Amino acid sequence: MIENSLSPAAITDNLETRFVGQRVIYYPSLASTMDEAKREAQQGAAEGTVVLAEEQTAGRGRIKRAWLSPKGSIALSIILHPSLAHISSLIMVASLAAVHCIEKVTGLKAQIKWPNDVLVNKKKVCGILIESDVRGNTVDYSIIGIGINVNLRLSDFPEISPTATSLSHELGRSVSRLDMIRCLLVETERLYLALPAGESVYQEWRDKLVTLGKRVQVRSGDATYKGIAESVASDGSLLLRQSDGSLIKIVAGDVTLRQ
Ligand code: BTN
Repeated sequence: MIENSLSPAAITDNLETRFVGQRVIYYPSLASTMDEAKREAQQGAAEGTVVLAEEQTAGRGRIKRAWLSPKGSIALSIILHPSLAHISSLIMVASLAAVHCIEKVTGLKAQIKWPNDVLVNKKKVCGILIESDVRGNTVDYSIIGIGINVNLRLSDFPEISPTATSLSHELGRSVSRLDMIRCLLVETERLYLALPAGESVYQEWRDKLVTLGKRVQVRSGDATYKGIAESVASDGSLLLRQSDGSLIKIVAGDVTLRQ
Protein backbone atom coordinates (compact mmCIF):
# COMPACT_ATOMS: atom_id res chain seq x y z
CA MET A 1 0.00 0.00 0.00
CA ILE A 2 1.30 3.50 -0.78
CA GLU A 3 1.34 5.71 2.32
CA ASN A 4 -0.92 8.67 1.64
CA SER A 5 1.44 11.06 3.34
CA LEU A 6 4.52 10.88 5.51
CA SER A 7 4.34 11.45 9.26
CA PRO A 8 7.32 13.15 10.94
CA ALA A 9 6.37 11.46 14.24
CA ALA A 10 6.56 8.03 12.60
CA ILE A 11 9.98 8.91 11.16
CA THR A 12 11.50 9.96 14.48
CA ASP A 13 9.77 7.27 16.60
CA ASN A 14 12.55 5.21 18.26
CA LEU A 15 14.93 6.23 15.47
CA GLU A 16 18.31 4.72 16.27
CA THR A 17 20.45 7.79 15.69
CA ARG A 18 22.21 10.21 17.98
CA PHE A 19 21.26 13.34 16.05
CA VAL A 20 20.38 12.78 12.36
CA GLY A 21 16.60 12.88 12.01
CA GLN A 22 15.90 13.52 15.68
CA ARG A 23 14.14 16.65 14.44
CA VAL A 24 12.15 16.46 11.19
CA ILE A 25 10.52 19.55 9.73
CA TYR A 26 7.78 18.41 7.38
CA TYR A 27 6.06 20.29 4.55
CA PRO A 28 3.33 18.97 2.25
CA SER A 29 4.86 21.10 -0.51
CA LEU A 30 8.00 23.25 -0.80
CA ALA A 31 9.90 24.92 -3.62
CA SER A 32 13.08 23.13 -2.53
CA THR A 33 14.09 21.46 0.74
CA MET A 34 17.60 22.86 0.14
CA ASP A 35 16.43 26.46 0.51
CA GLU A 36 14.42 25.72 3.64
CA ALA A 37 17.28 23.71 5.19
CA LYS A 38 19.63 26.60 4.43
CA ARG A 39 17.28 29.01 6.20
CA GLU A 40 17.09 26.66 9.20
CA ALA A 41 20.88 26.24 9.29
CA GLN A 42 21.40 30.01 9.19
CA GLN A 43 19.03 30.33 12.14
CA GLY A 44 21.10 27.84 14.13
CA ALA A 45 19.18 24.57 13.66
CA ALA A 46 20.80 21.63 15.43
CA GLU A 47 23.06 19.28 13.50
CA GLY A 48 21.02 16.44 12.02
CA THR A 49 17.86 18.50 11.50
CA VAL A 50 15.96 17.20 8.47
CA VAL A 51 13.71 19.17 6.13
CA LEU A 52 11.31 16.88 4.31
CA ALA A 53 8.75 17.70 1.63
CA GLU A 54 6.01 15.55 0.20
CA GLU A 55 6.60 17.30 -3.14
CA GLN A 56 8.89 20.05 -4.43
CA THR A 57 7.80 22.61 -6.98
CA ALA A 58 11.33 23.85 -7.83
CA GLY A 59 13.62 20.96 -6.85
CA ARG A 60 17.25 21.59 -7.73
CA GLY A 61 19.80 19.17 -9.15
CA ARG A 62 23.53 19.41 -9.66
CA ILE A 63 24.97 21.72 -12.33
CA LYS A 64 21.92 24.01 -12.15
CA ARG A 65 19.57 21.30 -13.38
CA ALA A 66 15.97 20.99 -12.28
CA TRP A 67 14.98 17.96 -10.20
CA LEU A 68 11.53 16.50 -10.59
CA SER A 69 10.04 15.48 -7.25
CA PRO A 70 6.31 14.86 -7.34
CA LYS A 71 4.25 13.16 -4.62
CA GLY A 72 5.38 9.56 -4.12
CA SER A 73 9.05 10.46 -4.24
CA ILE A 74 11.43 11.26 -1.38
CA ALA A 75 12.84 14.79 -1.11
CA LEU A 76 14.79 15.63 2.00
CA SER A 77 17.72 17.72 3.17
CA ILE A 78 19.93 17.01 6.20
CA ILE A 79 21.85 19.77 8.00
CA LEU A 80 25.36 18.78 9.10
CA HIS A 81 28.37 20.55 10.60
CA PRO A 82 31.35 18.63 9.20
CA SER A 83 34.97 19.67 9.51
CA LEU A 84 36.51 21.18 6.38
CA ALA A 85 38.51 17.98 5.87
CA HIS A 86 35.32 15.93 5.57
CA ILE A 87 33.26 18.09 3.21
CA SER A 88 34.44 16.29 0.06
CA SER A 89 33.47 12.94 1.62
CA LEU A 90 29.82 13.89 2.04
CA ILE A 91 29.03 12.76 -1.52
CA MET A 92 30.39 9.35 -0.57
CA VAL A 93 28.41 9.23 2.66
CA ALA A 94 25.14 10.17 0.97
CA SER A 95 25.46 7.98 -2.11
CA LEU A 96 26.52 4.94 -0.06
CA ALA A 97 23.64 5.51 2.37
CA ALA A 98 21.25 5.55 -0.59
CA VAL A 99 22.76 2.38 -2.09
CA HIS A 100 22.64 0.51 1.23
CA CYS A 101 19.03 1.50 1.91
CA ILE A 102 17.75 0.78 -1.60
CA GLU A 103 19.33 -2.67 -1.37
CA LYS A 104 18.09 -3.29 2.17
CA VAL A 105 14.52 -2.04 1.73
CA THR A 106 13.84 -3.30 -1.81
CA GLY A 107 16.36 -6.08 -2.48
CA LEU A 108 17.28 -4.35 -5.76
CA LYS A 109 20.97 -3.96 -6.60
CA ALA A 110 22.14 -0.35 -6.74
CA GLN A 111 25.31 1.20 -8.16
CA ILE A 112 26.88 4.66 -8.20
CA LYS A 113 27.73 6.66 -11.32
CA TRP A 114 30.48 9.15 -10.46
CA PRO A 115 30.19 11.25 -8.49
CA ASN A 116 26.90 10.46 -6.82
CA ASP A 117 24.07 9.36 -9.10
CA VAL A 118 22.53 6.16 -7.79
CA LEU A 119 21.43 3.73 -10.51
CA VAL A 120 19.24 0.66 -10.55
CA ASN A 121 19.41 -1.45 -13.70
CA LYS A 122 21.61 1.28 -15.27
CA LYS A 123 19.00 4.02 -14.80
CA LYS A 124 19.05 6.87 -12.31
CA VAL A 125 16.81 6.40 -9.31
CA CYS A 126 18.38 8.82 -6.82
CA GLY A 127 20.18 12.16 -7.02
CA ILE A 128 22.27 13.85 -4.37
CA LEU A 129 23.12 17.51 -3.98
CA ILE A 130 25.57 18.83 -1.39
CA GLU A 131 25.67 22.54 -0.60
CA SER A 132 28.04 23.99 1.98
CA ASP A 133 28.69 27.38 3.48
CA VAL A 134 32.41 27.71 4.14
CA ARG A 135 34.11 30.83 5.50
CA GLY A 136 37.90 30.64 5.52
CA ASN A 137 38.69 27.35 7.21
CA THR A 138 35.35 27.12 8.96
CA VAL A 139 32.33 25.24 7.72
CA ASP A 140 29.18 27.03 8.85
CA TYR A 141 27.04 24.14 7.64
CA SER A 142 26.66 21.55 4.91
CA ILE A 143 23.37 20.33 3.57
CA ILE A 144 22.94 16.90 2.03
CA GLY A 145 19.93 16.83 -0.31
CA ILE A 146 18.62 13.42 -1.31
CA GLY A 147 15.94 12.80 -3.92
CA ILE A 148 14.69 9.29 -4.66
CA ASN A 149 12.16 8.22 -7.25
CA VAL A 150 10.23 5.81 -5.07
CA ASN A 151 6.59 5.34 -6.10
CA LEU A 152 6.48 7.04 -9.51
CA ARG A 153 4.68 5.73 -12.57
CA LEU A 154 7.21 6.39 -15.31
CA SER A 155 4.53 6.75 -17.97
CA ASP A 156 3.45 9.93 -16.13
CA PHE A 157 6.93 11.42 -16.62
CA PRO A 158 8.05 10.71 -20.20
CA GLU A 159 10.63 13.53 -19.98
CA ILE A 160 12.80 11.48 -17.59
CA SER A 161 11.95 7.92 -18.56
CA PRO A 162 14.80 7.42 -21.11
CA THR A 163 17.45 7.80 -18.41
CA ALA A 164 15.63 7.48 -15.08
CA THR A 165 13.59 4.89 -13.26
CA SER A 166 11.72 4.48 -9.99
CA LEU A 167 11.89 1.81 -7.31
CA SER A 168 8.23 0.88 -7.80
CA HIS A 169 8.77 0.53 -11.55
CA GLU A 170 11.75 -1.79 -11.07
CA LEU A 171 10.02 -3.87 -8.39
CA GLY A 172 6.49 -3.96 -9.80
CA ARG A 173 5.06 -2.89 -6.44
CA SER A 174 5.08 0.15 -4.20
CA VAL A 175 7.81 0.74 -1.62
CA SER A 176 7.48 2.14 1.90
CA ARG A 177 8.90 5.65 1.90
CA LEU A 178 8.84 5.58 5.70
CA ASP A 179 11.16 2.53 5.82
CA MET A 180 13.41 4.12 3.21
CA ILE A 181 13.66 7.47 5.02
CA ARG A 182 14.35 5.89 8.43
CA CYS A 183 17.06 3.73 6.87
CA LEU A 184 18.60 6.76 5.10
CA LEU A 185 18.83 8.72 8.34
CA VAL A 186 20.44 5.85 10.26
CA GLU A 187 22.90 5.03 7.45
CA THR A 188 23.82 8.66 6.80
CA GLU A 189 24.70 9.15 10.46
CA ARG A 190 26.63 5.86 10.68
CA LEU A 191 28.76 6.65 7.61
CA TYR A 192 29.22 10.30 8.61
CA LEU A 193 30.48 9.29 12.05
CA ALA A 194 32.87 6.80 10.39
CA LEU A 195 34.66 9.58 8.43
CA PRO A 196 37.27 10.45 11.08
CA ALA A 197 38.32 6.77 11.12
CA GLY A 198 39.71 7.15 7.59
CA GLU A 199 39.63 4.90 4.56
CA SER A 200 36.54 2.69 4.73
CA VAL A 201 33.89 5.06 3.34
CA TYR A 202 36.12 6.11 0.43
CA GLN A 203 37.03 2.51 -0.40
CA GLU A 204 33.48 1.28 -0.37
CA TRP A 205 32.28 4.22 -2.47
CA ARG A 206 35.08 3.55 -5.02
CA ASP A 207 34.12 -0.14 -5.17
CA LYS A 208 30.48 0.73 -5.89
CA LEU A 209 31.31 3.05 -8.81
CA VAL A 210 30.01 1.64 -12.07
CA THR A 211 32.15 4.24 -13.88
CA LEU A 212 35.66 2.91 -13.24
CA GLY A 213 37.44 1.13 -16.07
CA LYS A 214 34.84 2.39 -18.59
CA ARG A 215 35.20 4.66 -21.61
CA VAL A 216 33.45 7.85 -20.62
CA GLN A 217 32.71 11.38 -21.69
CA VAL A 218 32.83 13.94 -18.89
CA ARG A 219 31.28 17.39 -19.08
CA SER A 220 32.90 19.73 -16.59
CA GLY A 221 31.98 23.41 -16.82
CA ASP A 222 32.25 24.35 -20.51
CA ALA A 223 34.74 21.59 -21.30
CA THR A 224 34.17 18.00 -22.42
CA TYR A 225 36.78 15.31 -21.85
CA LYS A 226 36.93 11.77 -23.22
CA GLY A 227 38.92 8.85 -21.97
CA ILE A 228 38.95 5.92 -19.59
CA ALA A 229 37.79 6.53 -16.03
CA GLU A 230 40.87 5.09 -14.38
CA SER A 231 40.39 5.83 -10.72
CA VAL A 232 39.06 8.22 -8.10
CA ALA A 233 41.11 10.12 -5.53
CA SER A 234 40.21 10.12 -1.86
CA ASP A 235 38.85 13.68 -2.22
CA GLY A 236 36.26 12.26 -4.65
CA SER A 237 37.74 13.62 -7.89
CA LEU A 238 37.86 11.47 -11.04
CA LEU A 239 41.15 10.49 -12.69
CA LEU A 240 40.63 10.27 -16.44
CA ARG A 241 43.18 8.73 -18.82
CA GLN A 242 42.94 10.61 -22.13
CA SER A 243 43.77 9.08 -25.52
CA ASP A 244 47.15 10.90 -25.61
CA GLY A 245 48.10 9.05 -22.41
CA SER A 246 47.77 12.03 -20.08
CA LEU A 247 45.93 11.66 -16.78
CA ILE A 248 43.67 14.50 -15.71
CA LYS A 249 41.89 15.09 -12.43
CA ILE A 250 38.26 16.23 -12.66
CA VAL A 251 36.75 17.65 -9.52
CA ALA A 252 33.15 18.07 -10.68
CA GLY A 253 31.29 17.02 -13.78
CA ASP A 254 28.74 14.82 -15.40
CA VAL A 255 29.67 11.46 -16.85
CA THR A 256 28.20 9.65 -19.84
CA LEU A 257 29.28 6.06 -20.29
CA ARG A 258 30.40 5.31 -23.88
CA GLN A 259 30.41 1.95 -25.58
C1 BTN B 1 21.12 15.60 -9.06
O1 BTN B 1 21.10 14.41 -9.37
O2 BTN B 1 21.41 16.46 -9.90
C2 BTN B 1 20.83 15.97 -7.63
C3 BTN B 1 19.38 15.94 -7.30
C4 BTN B 1 19.11 16.29 -5.84
C5 BTN B 1 17.64 16.35 -5.53
C6 BTN B 1 17.37 16.57 -4.07
S1 BTN B 1 15.68 16.34 -3.68
C7 BTN B 1 15.93 17.00 -2.09
C8 BTN B 1 16.85 18.17 -2.27
N1 BTN B 1 16.09 19.36 -2.64
C9 BTN B 1 16.41 19.81 -3.86
O3 BTN B 1 15.92 20.82 -4.40
N2 BTN B 1 17.34 19.02 -4.41
C10 BTN B 1 17.73 17.94 -3.51
